[in-house]
Amino acid sequence: MRLVVGITGGSGIPYAVDLLQTLRALEIETHLVISKGAARVYTTEGRGQLADLEALGSTLHSDADLGASIASGSFRTSGMIIVPCSSSTLAKVALGLGDTLITRAAHVTLKERRPLVLVPREAPYPRPMLENMLRAFDAGATVLPASPGFYHTPERVSDLLGFVTARVLDQFGIESGRMRRWEGSR
Ligand SMILES: Cc1cc2nc3c(=O)[nH]c(=O)nc-3n(C[C@H](O)[C@H](O)[C@H](O)COP(=O)(O)O)c2cc1C
Repeated sequence: MRLVVGITGGSGIPYAVDLLQTLRALEIETHLVISKGAARVYTTEGRGQLADLEALGSTLHSDADLGASIASGSFRTSGMIIVPCSSSTLAKVALGLGDTLITRAAHVTLKERRPLVLVPREAPYPRPMLENMLRAFDAGATVLPASPGFYHTPERVSDLLGFVTARVLDQFGIESGRMRRWEGSR
């Protein structure tokens, strides 16, 4: 299995780190692209060295490299995740713009009818973002906001990150083991 992971400039890059670490532990190949906006947020939020984030994928691509393998539908993947998905990238995906590798790869993923999971993070959502979420949904994407539940009684931040990772990977039929599942009310 091979997944494309795009990280864009939303607050919430720890969600991407958790996802990539989980995929690595599961020995799933990842093609990672980090937007300039994501690099800016990562630095601003004091998450550490960008090189540490870049090292989490199996293969790293530049967001400016529109000739990369994942820009073509003939390169086979099992789908793509954009986490976090900024409002700007969401708008581009909703409209089919492909001026960066992340948005081009998302367009290709929809074109090939492979699963595309978008993890927006904004609060509150302005109307254009809500409209773009609906457009992306109608185009075939799954909109899965970074909004962890609390029914698995989380104790640590990693439990909250794990909830989102588990729900994202559920979309690909991957059992991540990152979340205790709801088994009905007791
Ligand atoms: C510190 C910081 C935090 C940000 N947080 C968010 C956010 O939570 N959600 C969002 O949609 N945009 C956020 N932005 C704005 C995006 O990074 C900005 O719109 C950027 O152009 C997105 O480009 P990209 O989609 O190519 O990464 C943030 C920007 C900064 C500098």
